[in-house]
Amino acid sequence: MPRIRRIAVSTGGGDAPGLNGVIRAVAISAHWRGWEVLGIRHGYRGVIEGDADGVVLLDRAAVRGIGHLGGTILGSSNRGDPFNYPVQRDGKTIAENVSSRIVRWFEDRQVDALVAVGGDGSLGIAARLGQAGVPRVIGVPKTIDNDLAGTDVTFGFDTAVATATDALDRLHSTAQAHERVMVVEVMGRYAGWIAVHAGIAGGADVILIPEIPFDMDRVCEKIRRREARGRHFAIVVVAEGAKAVGGEMVVKSDGDEFRGHARLGGIAERVAEEITRRTGKESRSLVLGHLQRGGSPVATDRVLALRFGCAATRFLAETDAGGMVSVRRGAVELVSMEEATRHLRTVPLDSGVLQTGRDLGLCFGDEPAGTFLPGAPNSPG
Ligand code: F6P
Repeated sequence: MPRIRRIAVSTGGGDAPGLNGVIRAVAISAHWRGWEVLGIRHGYRGVIEGDADGVVLLDRAAVRGIGHLGGTILGSSNRGDPFNYPVQRDGKTIAENVSSRIVRWFEDRQVDALVAVGGDGSLGIAARLGQAGVPRVIGVPKTIDNDLAGTDVTFGFDTAVATATDALDRLHSTAQAHERVMVVEVMGRYAGWIAVHAGIAGGADVILIPEIPFDMDRVCEKIRRREARGRHFAIVVVAEGAKAVGGEMVVKSDGDEFRGHARLGGIAERVAEEITRRTGKESRSLVLGHLQRGGSPVATDRVLALRFGCAATRFLAETDAGGMVSVRRGAVELVSMEEATRHLRTVPLDSGVLQTGRDLGLCFGDEPAGTFLPGAPNSPG
């Protein structure tokens, strides 16, 4: 096994609470092994652009007291794919493959491995960098969306769910005071994990997710049934990627060559308008947006981030394999990058968490909510 002397860390894609914990864990566990740790700033931009401050030494002092902080001390970027990097040519922005600059940097600086912290996009890029000549690549799964295959959980998710749940708790009182329907849009891209978990934790009445195209008749039926039972308000949680049966996801802007994914957003407003139109109930919509990515990680995300960071250096020290660190059935293991990025992990339709919601009488916009007859004693309405 080749001896490791120096490693690099990068954080790419949308930030997630816990990134600083991973950086701290990688740095400290690498220092114990006598390795030097370099942090690449803003994804790979620090190396690609060769800025004076594009790479920072992550010594013990640099990672002191950062574990509880949101964001990332290295910065991040979701327009920094080195295989499709925006460069200026003749006054125009064009895409260029600049990955060889990164490979050369690893050679010149004699950096033995890369720890790439990212979601599916960033990990796919890291895997390609490995194929292009970066010596060893270990991925660390990060995303509030919780949609990475190959791991049961990603850090950042629990914090996003806690933030969204807190928002739902607060919205209950104002919804009740004004007898309104509050429609809350949460993040999650093409997966409904945040919506389902926050919706159940926060006592939502309706949860709409990308995995279950919704029927407005069902949504309104649920609201009317509550109304009939004297519950004159309702909380609807809608994932940004949710869509009506036969409809399309609502996008703010399409993806481009530098940023693969479309920017989703706007479904809550449409659902709220439709509820008012069909039921006559006053409604309001709001988009929680990047609040869900900000702030300090909750304790479970802090622990997960530290576990992942330490496991990344442990795998570098004890094996000569590459791959992504993951947690499966509670244990940390290394899975291939291919497995981790092959497909998105969406909410299975037979998952326990969906079943729990159905047993509680929540409406997912498909079948009639609850198993009780409308109007029956103790019907969940
Ligand atoms: O993937 C994380 C995420 O927060 C998604 O939930 C959301 O759709 C997207 O990133 C937003 O990206 P941006 O920060 O570019 O607006």
